[in-house]
Amino acid sequence: MKTFLNILYWFLIAIALIQFIPIDRTNKPVDSKVDFVKVYNTPKNVQQLLKTACYDCHSNETVYPKYAYVAPISWSVKHHVNEGRTYLNLSEWGNFNRDLKKDMLKKTVNALKVYSMPMPGYIAQHPEANLNKEERTLLIHYFENILNTENY
Ligand code: HEC
Repeated sequence: MKTFLNILYWFLIAIALIQFIPIDRTNKPVDSKVDFVKVYNTPKNVQQLLKTACYDCHSNETVYPKYAYVAPISWSVKHHVNEGRTYLNLSEWGNFNRDLKKDMLKKTVNALKVYSMPMPGYIAQHPEANLNKEERTLLIHYFENILNTENY
């Protein structure tokens, strides 16, 4: 029992201490000249879906949920945002070259088709990001159209 209390004590101390490790949650300002939805003048309904389901991890407009302020969960959230932005940052779309854009468009269509995005763990916490079949199809057609018309 004493050992257990000891472990619990140090565990709680550790949890308390890791709260002090700083995490940078400031978003870079968005330049509307290169933001995906501005570049393509994306229709409002598609824009809405992207902002609800993708922008938290694939843009510089991340809205951090409350649980993102408690370590160690905050580390995992920040890691996903960082990683998501390196794969696809819609806020910086206009800065990428044609090859990169084409590649990202193809991968986006695929991710939507195979249901790998939005991440399942994110949907569990954000039910509004759980795109239904019509919403998914709308996004797929939107991205496919940009690909097919080579408008990137
Ligand atoms: C909770 C954060 C999060 C959300 C929300 C999210 N993504 Fe991602 N996304 C990631 C992470 C992390 C990666 C890189 C690791 C991986 O592929 O799982 C990624 C990778 C990707 C990739 C590149 C890898 C691949 O699948 O080929 C694409 C494309 C993508 N996401 C599209 C989307 C789209 C479209 C949405 C919205 C419908 C979305 N994501 C929503 C976090 C997220």
